[in-house]
Amino acid sequence: MEEIKRVLGEKAAMMIKDGQVVGLGSGSTVEKFIESLGRRIKSEDLEIIGIPSSYQSLILALENGIKVGSLNEYTPEITVDGADEIDQRKFMVKGGGSALLREKILMSCSKDVLVIVDETKLVEKISVGFVPIEVVKFGFKRTMDKISELGAKKVNLRVSPGKVGPIISDNGNIILDAFFGEINDPPSLEKELNSLPGVVENGIFTVRPKVLIGKRDGEGIKVAPG
Ligand code: 5RP
Repeated sequence: MEEIKRVLGEKAAMMIKDGQVVGLGSGSTVEKFIESLGRRIKSEDLEIIGIPSSYQSLILALENGIKVGSLNEYTPEITVDGADEIDQRKFMVKGGGSALLREKILMSCSKDVLVIVDETKLVEKISVGFVPIEVVKFGFKRTMDKISELGAKKVNLRVSPGKVGPIISDNGNIILDAFFGEINDPPSLEKELNSLPGVVENGIFTVRPKVLIGKRDGEGIKVAPG
């Protein structure tokens, strides 16, 4: 899988043009993209500004020699990101790394969105797994009840090894993971969830990006547009 992500990262980095402002998503696939872009910037002396979506991508950008700017200063021409699930309609579930809020803001401001995924992320219809939802801490149990009322069969508070209690997002909020099963109308559920007081953003992404899919093909790795 590591190798597929590396090839995806390289292909995506090759699509970036000199002078572009690039939104940097988050996650292990984007990590490979950032490393590859850093190598290109160095070897080809490119002028690229990256706008990170998380502390992870900020640190990676700095480590790989990518100049960093803010969304207040720049508008990204393209944002490159990964996904947890993408379906045949190109609807996605994102937020496995708890960076969904800034990822969605970046995508909404970008002229182009490129999503890089290995074939394990392809599903017929979202969602197979949990939908991450960023919520404020105040009254989060009541927000969980309201998410259940919208059809979630299970809602969990996200915890993670390395910290006791709930994880806190880069924006100071908590993350819930809601299981809905197959979502027939993702744009409606995305809006309904966001209309709940207490919900900051949810991991249903309806932006319909350009997609590169990486898979093992015999001995080698094949990357094709999705
Ligand atoms: C982070 C994300 C990631 O893009 C998503 O979780 C995919 O990550 P990975 O490339 O590590 O599988 O949405 O919030």
